[in-house]
Amino acid sequence: MKTQWWKNAVGYQIYPRSFKDTNADGIGDLRGIIEKLDYIQDLGVDCVWICPFYRSPMDDNGYDVSDFYDVDPLFGTLDDAKELIAKAHQKGIRIILDLVLNHTSDEHPWFMESRSSLDNPKRDWYIWQKPRQDEKGKRIPPTNWASFFEGSCWNYDETSGEYYLKIFSDKMPDLNWANPDLRKEMYAMSRWWLDLGVDGFRVDAVAHLSKDTSFTDSEMKLNHDGVAPDWSKFSNRPELFEYLHEFHDEVLKHYDCLSVGEVGGGANVKAATRYAGYHAKAFNMVFNFDHCWKNGAFGSEDKTDDELTVNVLDLKETMDRWIQGMKGKGWIPHYWLNHDHPRVMSQYGNPRKFHRASGCMLGTVLLTLPGTPFIYNGEEIGMTNVDYTDINDFNDVWVKNYYEKAIKRQSPEQILTHLRRTSRDNARTPMQWDDSASAGFTTGKPHQKPVGNYKEINVKQQSEDPSSILNAYKHLIRLRKHGHLHSVLVNGDFKLISPKNKDLFVFERKKDDVTVLVVANFRAHEIRYKLPYLPKAIHYDNYGLAEITKEIVLLPYQALVLEK
Ligand code: BGC
Repeated sequence: MKTQWWKNAVGYQIYPRSFKDTNADGIGDLRGIIEKLDYIQDLGVDCVWICPFYRSPMDDNGYDVSDFYDVDPLFGTLDDAKELIAKAHQKGIRIILDLVLNHTSDEHPWFMESRSSLDNPKRDWYIWQKPRQDEKGKRIPPTNWASFFEGSCWNYDETSGEYYLKIFSDKMPDLNWANPDLRKEMYAMSRWWLDLGVDGFRVDAVAHLSKDTSFTDSEMKLNHDGVAPDWSKFSNRPELFEYLHEFHDEVLKHYDCLSVGEVGGGANVKAATRYAGYHAKAFNMVFNFDHCWKNGAFGSEDKTDDELTVNVLDLKETMDRWIQGMKGKGWIPHYWLNHDHPRVMSQYGNPRKFHRASGCMLGTVLLTLPGTPFIYNGEEIGMTNVDYTDINDFNDVWVKNYYEKAIKRQSPEQILTHLRRTSRDNARTPMQWDDSASAGFTTGKPHQKPVGNYKEINVKQQSEDPSSILNAYKHLIRLRKHGHLHSVLVNGDFKLISPKNKDLFVFERKKDDVTVLVVANFRAHEIRYKLPYLPKAIHYDNYGLAEITKEIVLLPYQALVLEK
């Protein structure tokens, strides 16, 4: 029976590489997650999405899969995965697998077969095209399309004399979803994991499963690498939805599982209903990226941190557009960041002057929105972006590709500032458990340097402080999941109040006779505000004040959850 349990869930995303290391190799592992299940349970979340832990050469930290049916030795064994699932279930926590359908590693046996000859039966499981020649007769890629990870999205294969498509790194060839045998294999693999006990999937990069098979050049202006960043060539294309229906029929509809697709920035609200409308016969929900990057981080190298401001109007208009657009049509998830984004504390909060207040404020907004919230590991203690001053401290494959090209046009200082604000490594540093060496993440040498502030910002310290961000998250999760506000916070209507206010995010949630008013100050200064009514109860105030008057002066990053 389909229970739609995910509507009431609070999700927690774990980047296993950086969560907890138990064998001192400097890399987090599944046993580390098992060890921290009590922590996860105590936080109050009940659905954990874990980034890929399949066998992988780790070019893209596990999104480059070489065996879908096994756990990479760096993370543990298949028995560890089974134990993790069983132990999580005993605690009422569901486990969501990161399902990578768009590509494999170039070291996956399918690709090794595919590249071995032009007539290999697996040749058509990937996307191969013949080279073109420029006017001088020099070999050039089949199209001018860019890859998400810099440069062309084609890589030349000497053995067979053709190019394969790879929209991410060179080591991540795209699978050809037009091939029915490949699709069947992917469905069988997905069912295998559900039968093993996982409770659903976050489906990686799903918007890209089908491509423009006319393989013609994009008309878009070429970028500084001479390629066109025209994502429409491989995003949200019509055949994709046929594949999703098939995936639904062959896999999803047979299980009481969650399916959440990653559709990125290309899909608008209308497209989202095709991916995750109540009647779409596809996914339960999709992650979009529209509310990210509202602080002007790109191109901000010449500004100081204090000069970056959050565009609150844009942020709340964007969220409102999605919430109202999907109302009655489909369910939506909410998140501030994931492993591909900078830390929200550094983007929309204020780590230098109002770390505690701004972290609590961000948690307040996230956990009182309609839909299903997802917290990213470390967000609940307000972890920040990196403080690295050496390019070699960064690790991400995209960063490496980017640096190689950017150094031709920017100074190392500008690049470092850019990366400290935008790089994916910001979210991938070791989880800050305590103030011991390596933040209590490992007793070995961590695969990536912890952020220098771990002595002040860590789980141990915040567990002991009743007013900490961690305790605020726990309180807000309890409010959402238990007690009389549960139904209104999960299912209630959402209405922006004072939509034109450029500093405050104020909204009302309403269901039957319960109305909740959420007030959040996104600024580092006081703001006068007149509440629409005097509330009868204060369910949360990150400054812990005893009383509220109708006309209030909101303190920096103050957040309130009030009941009418
Ligand atoms: C994942 C990234 C990954 C990419 C390729 C994304 O959308 O979230 O971390 O690099 O897909 O798998």
